[in-house]
Amino acid sequence: MTLEDQFYDMYREYFRHAENGRRWNVERDIPWDKCNPQTNDKVAQAVEAFMAVEMYLPDYTSKILHLVRHSRGRAWFQANWGYEESKHSLALEEWLIHSGKRTERQVRDYSDSLLQQEWDMPFDTPRRMIIYTTLQELSTQLNYRKLMALAKAENDEALVTALGFISRDEAAHFKFFKDGARLFLEDNRDATLLDIQYVLTNFKMPAIDLISEWQEYLNNIVELGLFSARIFLGEVVQPALKQLEVTRADLKAVVDASGIANLIEPKAKSALNFVR
Ligand SMILES: [Fe+2]
Ligand SMILES: [Fe+2]
Repeated sequence: MTLEDQFYDMYREYFRHAENGRRWNVERDIPWDKCNPQTNDKVAQAVEAFMAVEMYLPDYTSKILHLVRHSRGRAWFQANWGYEESKHSLALEEWLIHSGKRTERQVRDYSDSLLQQEWDMPFDTPRRMIIYTTLQELSTQLNYRKLMALAKAENDEALVTALGFISRDEAAHFKFFKDGARLFLEDNRDATLLDIQYVLTNFKMPAIDLISEWQEYLNNIVELGLFSARIFLGEVVQPALKQLEVTRADLKAVVDASGIANLIEPKAKSALNFVR
């Protein structure tokens, strides 16, 4: 079977699962009357920060879709992915409004101002982008799961329910991209290992250069324990490599053998790139 055949089969399987068991409805499935107006403002600020990152959906969808448009499996997946991601920002903004943390006007004005900026892909090949999105989706899944635990402690049933649906979607996204990265490893292991090393060295969270409040958001996210360099390395990079069945030694060996170690060896602070 060709790589594209495998991607298409993976997509059909993904879509079957999504249609049969994972779909959810922003209006019907979240108990909006069970928002807790007393929920900590720091939690609300984290919701706003994640909503801001989700807001660049038009760029994430259009640019990645264009990059993989020749691939039926990946392109159709990307279209479906865009639909699912669109519900994430909707649910987060609904919570901000229903909880009384922000007015509808504030949310609309903020969304409009975010969309003045445009996101560009951090990598320009499909293989590097699938590795990047693998790490990205696992990071967001983790962010939302940790935020859900805080929402539980605040007795905010609406936010808990919304974050439960969202993090389940992110887990499914991670699985698709991770399985795709595994296909690339089977297809050309050494070149894919080099790309993994390259992406790890240059990883940063999406859109953070575009959001003027990002530093303030980040301080809050770190303070709440939702994300940090340590979490990224220990709870994203390590488990992702494990699921790809790639070790640090594999990466080092291929980098050493390639003779381009000086070009892609991690810089001292590369793990902190997501804070930039
Ligand atoms: Fe999302
Ligand atoms: Fe996602």
